Amino acid sequence: MGFYPTASGPAKVAPMTGQRLSEVLDGALAPCLDQLLTPALVIDLDAVQANIAATIARVGGEDRWRPHLKTSKQAVIIDLMLDAGLRHFKVATCDELGLLLRTAGSRAVDVLFCYPAQRASLTAVLALARAHAHARVLVLADSPAHLDAIAAWSRALGHTSPLPVMLDVDLGMHRTGSIPAEWRERPSVPEPLVLAGLHGYDGHLTWAQREQAQLGYDALVELATALCSGPAAPAPSTLELVTSGTHSYAHALDHPGLRAGAWRHSVSPGTIVLSDRRSHAAERDIGLRQAAFVATRVISAGPDRVTLDAGSKAIAPDVSPPSCAIVDHGELEPQRASEEHLPCRVQPGAASPELGRLLWLIPEHVCTTVNLYREAVWIRGGRYVGVGPVGASGHGCGLPDTSLVKPPREG
Ligand SMILES: Cc1ncc(COP(=O)(O)O)c(C=O)c1O
Repeated sequence: MGFYPTASGPAKVAPMTGQRLSEVLDGALAPCLDQLLTPALVIDLDAVQANIAATIARVGGEDRWRPHLKTSKQAVIIDLMLDAGLRHFKVATCDELGLLLRTAGSRAVDVLFCYPAQRASLTAVLALARAHAHARVLVLADSPAHLDAIAAWSRALGHTSPLPVMLDVDLGMHRTGSIPAEWRERPSVPEPLVLAGLHGYDGHLTWAQREQAQLGYDALVELATALCSGPAAPAPSTLELVTSGTHSYAHALDHPGLRAGAWRHSVSPGTIVLSDRRSHAAERDIGLRQAAFVATRVISAGPDRVTLDAGSKAIAPDVSPPSCAIVDHGELEPQRASEEHLPCRVQPGAASPELGRLLWLIPEHVCTTVNLYREAVWIRGGRYVGVGPVGASGHGCGLPDTSLVKPPREG
């Protein structure tokens, strides 16, 4: 589509056709509307591609971006990233790791499993790494004790080849990782682990908290410098410092110590690929296009109220209401959703959309919304082009599928 709809402001008009965004989206899905069940996740692949290219340009090259795949979770989007030259990724689940490795095929990727692995998930990670030996798979240590545990589990699992590890540094988010002082006391890592870098994710900070972000990066750089001093210390050029998501990458890109060191510095925004209502600062900074929508229909209408078929099982409710905006319908105010229903107040004097009318939602939080879907509908060039799986949505348990075996009866 030849225009830049925004997640935050009112939708812009397509310059070539003068159409509103909702009209363009309606037109794209017109051929399949009779069969399309709503709510449906709809991905504009042109917008995804534009966001990937714009982000690579903003961060200064493919090697400086290690996108987190927890947002997109789809092979078609991973393929677009690989086509754009990206080779470094982050994942949080074994499903995301498996999807990346399968999608990359013979393309050698470098992927950080950026979640504190426990014995079962480490077993799955190592099995995937063995099955895709040309990929570099890194693990994350939460604390010195966890570092020792990963090393011991790896040895017990028969993994003796070097396993790259990043130390998770708590820069103030207080979610995972250990503070720099704790890591300073553990300068070496046990075999088969090899120190590959530091991971400092500052998801607690916003676009406005530049000074606080820079203090965190100062601490990360000091720790990296300390770990690289001493006779048996790793050379700084062998390390990578990974920081920042969509709400703070701009602070990290400007930090002189991160930029100037001999280490490689990368940022790891994920939301940026699809964009959402919360990413308005990055959207303005990079010129992001909204790439993910939820198609919904009006299923009930009352006085000053319409209800859409997009409840909390269609738009993630992990933000305070409203959890979405309705494209080109400022007169409709989304209220608190129930599981399958989204009631919307109609502003006084405004006309209500008719029953069955297709509307378009932009999620406040796209990552958790995508995770609710098994399939996504793709549009390209303003046209419907297909449907594909959201291959890493939800959670698998890792055990073999026994659905063809009847569970034993009691007694
Ligand atoms: C460890 C880690 N890295 C990177 C990201 C990416 O952040 P965003 O989706 O805001 O770009 C997240 C988001 O939750 C995260 O938890």
